[in-house]
Amino acid sequence: MNTQLLVNVSVMRYRPEQDDEPWLQHFDVPFRNDMSILDTLHYIKDECDSTLAYRWSCRMAICGSCGFMINGEPKLGCKTFLRDYLSANGGDNSVRIEPLAHFPIERDLIARIDDFVEKLEAIKPYIIRDQEDTALTSVYPQTPQQMAKYHDLSMCINCGLCYAACPQYGLNNAFFGPAALALLQRYNKDNRDQGRAQRMPMLNAEQGVWACTFVGECSEVCPKGVDPARAINTSKLESTVDYGVNLIHWLRKDDAGQEGGR
Ligand code: SF4
Ligand code: FES
Repeated sequence: MNTQLLVNVSVMRYRPEQDDEPWLQHFDVPFRNDMSILDTLHYIKDECDSTLAYRWSCRMAICGSCGFMINGEPKLGCKTFLRDYLSANGGDNSVRIEPLAHFPIERDLIARIDDFVEKLEAIKPYIIRDQEDTALTSVYPQTPQQMAKYHDLSMCINCGLCYAACPQYGLNNAFFGPAALALLQRYNKDNRDQGRAQRMPMLNAEQGVWACTFVGECSEVCPKGVDPARAINTSKLESTVDYGVNLIHWLRKDDAGQEGGR
């Protein structure tokens, strides 16, 4: 007698050419102890419905493309296991897989992340130099201590889980959001970079760090330990100092102008 355990997997479907609304499709998936949620989707695609669309690439928490809402929580499909949803482990032998929250749905489990990518690009995520030295032999040295200042922030894999977890981004898509602001701080902390003055207006902007209400869910769900909540809230201090420095400059200029006019 076949006693293989079947797990009830509900997958959100949405094919814009035929569906008015997203809907849940149910599958019974034979359980294997080493099965990730991504393996579960592969099983469904191979054995049940080949039209299911979802993103993935590396299967090892590196590419950042397999982010889904799994029972309502943003997680990487390749780093989350079906066994965690069994009754023996506190679940109920069922799991619901949906596209990342707070983004429009492109198709089935594929979220449209253009806005997220535009925000990452907007903060100028590269080393900026006042004068580019293009000689092939030139290097920009960095000590291990200098690298340690931003190393944790550089672990981001752009998976977007922090945006799906952030209630502020959910309410207001204009907010730069956790990963972009953490990435901004990553480059500002890099001793080889000289682009701080170009990035500070974005950090100080209405939709920059001050739009964060410090819920902290972004850091809870981050699969790489980036801690964007900490990055954003320490940047508030930098933003305050920057404001003070700009104010002193402005007052001095104003003073000099008044004396010149006397
Ligand atoms: S900060 Fe973390 S959760 Fe956000 S995109 Fe980067 S790796 Fe993903
Ligand atoms: S498939 Fe690359 S992070 Fe999951």
